[in-house]
Amino acid sequence: MAESMLILRMCSIILVLGFSEAKMEIITSKPDVLLGENAMLLCKAGGEGDITWQKDGEDAEDDQVEKVDETSSKLFIRNAKIEDAGRYTCLCEFDTGHRDYVSYAIFVYEPPSFGQTPTNHEFLEGQDVVITCVVTGKPAVEVNWERDHQKLHSDGRITRLKDNSLQINNISRKDRGSYTCEAKIKDRPIFKKHVISIFVNVPPTVKIHEEVKKVMAGPETNVSLSCLVEGVPQPNIIWTIPDSSDESRYKYNSDKSELIISSVVRSDYGEYICTAKNKIAESSAMIMLDVSEHPVAVLSQEKMKVEPGQTLSVSCNVSGHPMPALQWVRKTNNDHLLTVDTGGGRVRMEDGYVLVVDNVTSSDGGLYSCMAISPAGNASTDFSLQTWPGKASQVSGTPGPTSVHFTLGASLVDGGSPITHFTLQWKTGRENNWQERVIQSTDPLVITDLIPYTSYSVRFAPRNHLGQGGFSDELTVRTQGIRGEVLTRVVKLKREPDSPILVASEGRFEGNMFSIPLTQLDCGGSPIIHYIVRYRVNKMDEDWRVKDLPSNSTVINLHDLQCKSDYHMEVLAVNSYGSSSPAKLNFNVPQPVAKMNKGGMAKGAVASIVMLIFLVLLIAVDATCCYTNRCGMLMFLAVKLFGQKVPGMKTVEEGDGTCNGKTSPIGDPATEV
Ligand SMILES: *[C@@H]1O[C@H](CO)[C@@H](O)[C@H](O)[C@H]1NC(C)=O
Ligand SMILES: *[C@@H]1O[C@H](CO)[C@@H](O)[C@H](O)[C@H]1NC(C)=O
Ligand SMILES: *[C@@H]1O[C@H](CO)[C@@H](O)[C@H](O)[C@H]1NC(C)=O
Ligand SMILES: *[C@@H]1O[C@H](CO)[C@@H](O)[C@H](O)[C@H]1NC(C)=O
Ligand SMILES: *[C@@H]1O[C@H](CO)[C@@H](O)[C@H](O)[C@H]1NC(C)=O
Ligand SMILES: *[C@@H]1O[C@H](CO)[C@@H](O)[C@H](O)[C@H]1NC(C)=O
Repeated sequence: MAESMLILRMCSIILVLGFSEAKMEIITSKPDVLLGENAMLLCKAGGEGDITWQKDGEDAEDDQVEKVDETSSKLFIRNAKIEDAGRYTCLCEFDTGHRDYVSYAIFVYEPPSFGQTPTNHEFLEGQDVVITCVVTGKPAVEVNWERDHQKLHSDGRITRLKDNSLQINNISRKDRGSYTCEAKIKDRPIFKKHVISIFVNVPPTVKIHEEVKKVMAGPETNVSLSCLVEGVPQPNIIWTIPDSSDESRYKYNSDKSELIISSVVRSDYGEYICTAKNKIAESSAMIMLDVSEHPVAVLSQEKMKVEPGQTLSVSCNVSGHPMPALQWVRKTNNDHLLTVDTGGGRVRMEDGYVLVVDNVTSSDGGLYSCMAISPAGNASTDFSLQTWPGKASQVSGTPGPTSVHFTLGASLVDGGSPITHFTLQWKTGRENNWQERVIQSTDPLVITDLIPYTSYSVRFAPRNHLGQGGFSDELTVRTQGIRGEVLTRVVKLKREPDSPILVASEGRFEGNMFSIPLTQLDCGGSPIIHYIVRYRVNKMDEDWRVKDLPSNSTVINLHDLQCKSDYHMEVLAVNSYGSSSPAKLNFNVPQPVAKMNKGGMAKGAVASIVMLIFLVLLIAVDATCCYTNRCGMLMFLAVKLFGQKVPGMKTVEEGDGTCNGKTSPIGDPATEV
């Protein structure tokens, strides 16, 4: 204990010795004193002495100073004022006789303050703006600007104004962010920071791809209208729709920048306005939606049945957008389209959409089309006009032995409905009423079962399911016979020849020879090669006798026939297509009147002629005698008959003659003796 006391004492002695020999000091908390605060300076002299205080060379006020003990003193600064700043000196007159002092500088300040300086700004892009930083503080304040912890340097666009404000010209979006205004007490490490947020707004802009959008109305057509919007803050988009009666038709994407209309209809056309709006401003753009509609043509009837002479009236309404033009066309058989001339007269257009045809004729029948023509496309609807068929023209008739074949020089007018039947009519010259037969249109146009070698009037009329057209002009034809009159010849299909013609009444017998003319009217379009003649006694089991005649034969001669027999003969004409059906003839060979050979015939004839001449001479002589001499047989007859003598007349003797005499026909075997 005694030892430790000793050490402490020695230490304090060394300390005291040390101070006295080292230096004085002023101890205080800090050199910077806030305005209005209190501060205390403690001066330790390090030895005993008389301690006094001075400020900037002037003695301090007594009430500021307080003696602590022989080696230290305090100076109080109460409610510090700016003027209290200065150099404070502590002086000491040591008991040892020497003097010393120590000084200490005190700063009094008013802290920097930003007052009402705003902490955020909103600007519009492109503006020239000033960001103020209003700072108070004493004795003097320095201001610096920082952005993102870096000192902000002035460049051409950003400048520091004298009042410490920051000016930014043509501010843009990239200038947005946090700016720091730092205020520092001049030369003192005392500063404050003020953060200012800068917002740069951009007014909305709206861009569109197409000002006019063209679409075709239809259930498959979806249209999307889009609008590109920019701006800060993000603008809201509002669409103005021409016809907003049914909002459910319109769909939008999440930010409403796209408007979608499904199954566009014509009434969707119009102006669609896209408006973008933020707190700065609003802007809009317009899209014109042009909706075309495919044309439609609607007819009042699809089929019209009109009797000839009546009036057709059919209406066609066309619609679409743009409004289509209406045109009537007629479809020909080969699918050509002919524009109907509605220029007036019998065929005309009424009220712009009614087709009127007065006095309808057969040739008006057929397929018509109402066409709607517009830039959006064409549409057409057909209707068929049906009326009676037309009268056939350029008709010719080709007779066969029992038939007349009609040939048409011009095609038939069917009146818009297929011809189903023909009515064929014929009559002979003696008949008043027509005989008729109706045939299918697919059958050959032939009147059959006529009598050969007879003159007929013939005609026909076509018929469709609406009615019967007029009859063709009457033709007079003669069915085939010898030198049959054929009014008109037409080219026929090549075929086997018609039967040759044999006319029984023209047959002649000479003894047991039969000869008959052979006529061939129709060779079937191919020359006759030869004729086949076959004949036999008309009894069963008799053999045929067959002759071949050359094609230029005009007469058939059959020799060596049996007398008093019935014969049957058949003649066939043959061309390269075959043989005709046989022409048939039955004849009876008469009783031979003489030796029916050429010599016998000549003897008989000579005897007859001699006798005839003799008789004629006799009568001539007798007549001469009677006339000149009143004699002879004639005179005798006259006297006998009249009972008196005719004057100048000679009586003739009774005889067998008259004036004419009696002759026998020559060449008639039946009367020849
Ligand atoms: C403003 O800045 C924009 C780019 O941010 C520039 O396009 C425009 O020309 C500038 N305006 C002026 C007046 O300098
Ligand atoms: C149109 O939109 C409807 C419904 O929005 C959809 O079902 C249809 O497939 C779309 N049609 C086309 C052609 O895109
Ligand atoms: C055509 O339109 C008229 C009036 O616009 C109407 O009376 C008529 O019925 C319509 N015809 C057809 C075939 O639609
Ligand atoms: C229709 O035909 C008749 C007689 O053929 C004639 O009198 C009338 O004028 C015609 N009508 C028209 C509109 O052509
Ligand atoms: C419509 O009809 C007109 C006149 O007949 C023709 O020139 C045009 O090519 C047609 N357009 C279409 C799409 O068929
Ligand atoms: C028939 O033709 C032949 C030759 O083929 C000829 O010799 C004959 O005189 C002709 N007959 C008649 C009647 O023309």
